[in-house]
Amino acid sequence: MSDYFDYEENAERAISITLIESGAFDGWLEKQNQTVQAWVSRQKFTASIGTHCWVPGDNGEPERVVAGWNGEASLATIGALPMSLPEGLYTLEGESHELALLGWGLGAYRFERYRESDREPARLVLGSHPHRERIANTVAATHLTRDLINTPAGDMLPSNLADEAMQVANTHDADCTVTVGDDLLDTGHGAIHAVGRASANAPRLIDIRWGNPKHPRVVVIGKGVCFDSGGLDIKPASGMRTMKKDMGGAATALGLAQLIMAQQLPINLRLMIPAVENAISGTAYRPGDVLNTYKGISVEVDNTDAEGRLVLCDALALAAEDEPALIIDYATLTGSARSAVGAEIAAMFCNDDEVAQGIHSAGAEQDDPVWRMPLHAGYAHMLKSKVADTANSAASPYGGAITAALFLEQFVEDVPWAHFDIMAFNVRNRPGRPEGGEAMALRAVYCYLEKRFGPGAVDDEVRAHAQPV
Ligand code: BES
Ligand code: ZN
Ligand code: ZN
Repeated sequence: MSDYFDYEENAERAISITLIESGAFDGWLEKQNQTVQAWVSRQKFTASIGTHCWVPGDNGEPERVVAGWNGEASLATIGALPMSLPEGLYTLEGESHELALLGWGLGAYRFERYRESDREPARLVLGSHPHRERIANTVAATHLTRDLINTPAGDMLPSNLADEAMQVANTHDADCTVTVGDDLLDTGHGAIHAVGRASANAPRLIDIRWGNPKHPRVVVIGKGVCFDSGGLDIKPASGMRTMKKDMGGAATALGLAQLIMAQQLPINLRLMIPAVENAISGTAYRPGDVLNTYKGISVEVDNTDAEGRLVLCDALALAAEDEPALIIDYATLTGSARSAVGAEIAAMFCNDDEVAQGIHSAGAEQDDPVWRMPLHAGYAHMLKSKVADTANSAASPYGGAITAALFLEQFVEDVPWAHFDIMAFNVRNRPGRPEGGEAMALRAVYCYLEKRFGPGAVDDEVRAHAQPV
């Protein structure tokens, strides 16, 4: 099945794992025989979350595993086990929550492109869980997103990102067009071209379409800045060091698209990835340049390091043209969003209260936290330019994630839209969330889309004119 999940047929030879809630630990221990009690106390096991301990069978050999948890199903429930248990095959006793099983698959992730890991993850029998397909597809989508982010820019430039996207499109029989280099000028995407033109690897707009045209249209967009040097407004070394992850929005968008297609969600999907390298050369765009964007709004470049919003604005305007039911974008857009909500929460901006509420509660349900931030119109004055319709960055450093979102809002106008300013990276190890590239707000949005458009949500007729739930 995969190197972390196995089929039911093999359950017989698997080692059983029993979950014990920390609060119920004393009661459980009392009921065990003396030998088991001695083993448990020797291993200093108290059923705290993420820990496990071996228990002997009648022959005195280690026979099964007990694992601690806090009683709330989350990625952390068994997310630490695939890498802390010895390699081998395991089953989870009792009814298992989808989030816990997901946590196993997500905790089994390793990035092995340049060095093999010194161990295999432990494998879990997924058995006949009613949602095992969705679990496996969600894990695969998240692993794809992580691999793309973890791969350094040298091997993940715009052409590589386009190859990855085309591969996903081919697997699911989706249509894919890629507009490359100077052709972007012919199609009117002057901002994507300007940001990416200094790189030896030409800028491009990846555009994938999938699904039944009669189904509601949803567009997913991801910031694909394969490396962000800052451009002529060059970043200091410390700020540049992690910028291979500046295509984290694109990686998340591609992971979400893969999941939607694998699950055959009845929507008419469009995925757009503006893929560029924000590089420095004689052809680089400059502070003070004025760009012609796809929407016809002229943009003065105040700062070449505020490049993400420039590549996104050309994609957003194209997306809005079709008047879809919803536009979603993901972007590692601002340091300011990280100051506001830290590295472990996705900052969400949304021009529709019902959509925002729906995604927020789906995120809570999915252990994929998002927090809504304000599109405060009172800050729009900060984006004024003396020579063009708008500037790409505000003179004031305050509210940087908000002014970035306000910049984008000009290009979607009234189309329902949710924008995620994400970290796309785990800065520490947590069960189910290994350090490194991460898909943030992917499950929140997928769950929301499934509730709103999925089978059983509404009939086709209503779906075609669906309003936010
Ligand atoms: N890719 C960065 C934002 C970023 C930095 C995300 C660090 C995550 C971690 C983006 O292109 C950028 O440089 N933004 C600037 C905008 C400023 C120049 C207006 C920022 O946030 O400082
Ligand atoms: Zn930048
Ligand atoms: Zn950037």
